Amino acid sequence: MKRRQLLTLSALALALPYRSLFAQAHHRQHGHMAMAPSHSKAGDGLLALNAMTQGKTLRPLPVLQNTSTQAGVFRAQLSAHKQDIALASVQKTAMYVYNGSAPGPLIEVYEGDTVDILFQNHLPEATTVHWHGLPVPPAEDGNPQDPVAPGEQRHYRFTLPEGCAGTYWYHPHPHGRTAMQVARGLAGTLIVRSRNDPLQHMPEQHWLISDLRLDEHAQIPANTMLDWMNGREGQFILINGQYQPTTSLASNTRLRIWNSCSARYLRLEVDDCQWVLLGTDGGLLESARPPSQELLLVPGQRVEVLLVAEKAHTTNLRARYYDRHKMMVTEQATDHVLAQVNVPQQDRSAIPARLRDNIRLGEPKSEKKVVFSEMDMSHDADHEMSMPMLQSMFMINGKVYDMERIDLSSKVGEVERWQVFNDSHMDHPFHLHGTQFIVTERRQGEQALLEPYAAWRDTINLKPYETIYFLVRQDQPGIRMFHCHILEHEDLGMMANLLVS
Ligand code: C2O
Ligand code: CU
Ligand code: CU
Repeated sequence: MKRRQLLTLSALALALPYRSLFAQAHHRQHGHMAMAPSHSKAGDGLLALNAMTQGKTLRPLPVLQNTSTQAGVFRAQLSAHKQDIALASVQKTAMYVYNGSAPGPLIEVYEGDTVDILFQNHLPEATTVHWHGLPVPPAEDGNPQDPVAPGEQRHYRFTLPEGCAGTYWYHPHPHGRTAMQVARGLAGTLIVRSRNDPLQHMPEQHWLISDLRLDEHAQIPANTMLDWMNGREGQFILINGQYQPTTSLASNTRLRIWNSCSARYLRLEVDDCQWVLLGTDGGLLESARPPSQELLLVPGQRVEVLLVAEKAHTTNLRARYYDRHKMMVTEQATDHVLAQVNVPQQDRSAIPARLRDNIRLGEPKSEKKVVFSEMDMSHDADHEMSMPMLQSMFMINGKVYDMERIDLSSKVGEVERWQVFNDSHMDHPFHLHGTQFIVTERRQGEQALLEPYAAWRDTINLKPYETIYFLVRQDQPGIRMFHCHILEHEDLGMMANLLVS
């Protein structure tokens, strides 16, 4: 029998920086208890923020070499290794890396390309490579049902359909181990380009934003119970693996930004600048959006943006505090500086009025209902918190994930309208594999808001008690997952299987 992993809240309070847990344990609101974390302050067992090199020039992501000489074929090798990487001066960090680097190499391909990636697993555990957001056949999508055992290899082969140009990424998806493998460094970017890209004249810059927790020996610690509950956030927020780098944007830069954090919501702001949204997960919008002060990227999401300023200046990229209603934690609203950015004067007229054809899917033929929920823990909170409890806590349609169970079924090629309701007090980012959807409406209580513009997305945030409606179509038969993209919640079973046939 599996040994019962048990950690009581009092043990947690002793072992972790959450010292005021019991002092405030009875101060509850809506079933959560309050406590003050003291993350990233000296003496909490974590590496001090100044122990990591900062202020270096932002490096572009390494690019995965295409070894094919055939037009329309992208062939490459990707391997996952355990490797010690020098991040902080104290000691090297034991990480998991793709092709020797964290983040992994950027894969750049074109619509219509046939992609053949030989993947070798040199990790001490099983893994998969999941192509987040890409319309690849389910058997090639790194599902948890298709693990690559340690020491084994396999080809991931797929042909990219026309119209899928966009900003994607890849990461492991093994059953129950996704969060830890990503936290140890496994994630990489993938861009699908179009031969008729209306923005191909614009220079690009890529920001893969991840976070990393390091202990005082610069090692990646295991998850705490609170990490499992709320999703893990590291004290270091990195761009392309670098801590607080500096970067210069060329005039009219098309910026692609990824949030590959396990759980951290990124509410991005740049002083005296505004974001002009050009594209979302699955590619360009029909036209650019009006400028806005802040840009919210939840775990798993990507955007294409232009950063506009009245005049050239040097400033900070910040992640402002976002309250996602964590359990058993009262947070201080802290902002983080992510980078120093030299912003040139931008010329918005560089953007064509029309970026793509209409984003539409037609009338839905059927409906689906999905409910995210949490077990009510309020009456248990004074007792012990254990892994088995956590493993029955996060549910979709009342159930915890089972790899073998089919939860919902769809027909190939049929447009559906999904209604996803977050019946919980915490934000959860919803993600569906293998396709892109169009959000049409959001509802909170009596308030219904039609989505102001059409966009191709595969990941969308659900605020507490919010309902999101979207249109979607699956074009390839097989099993697809949908889940919360807080990776700890996914691993704990906030995931379900959709059979497309
Ligand atoms: Cu990026 Cu199933 O996930
Ligand atoms: Cu995915
Ligand atoms: Cu969640």
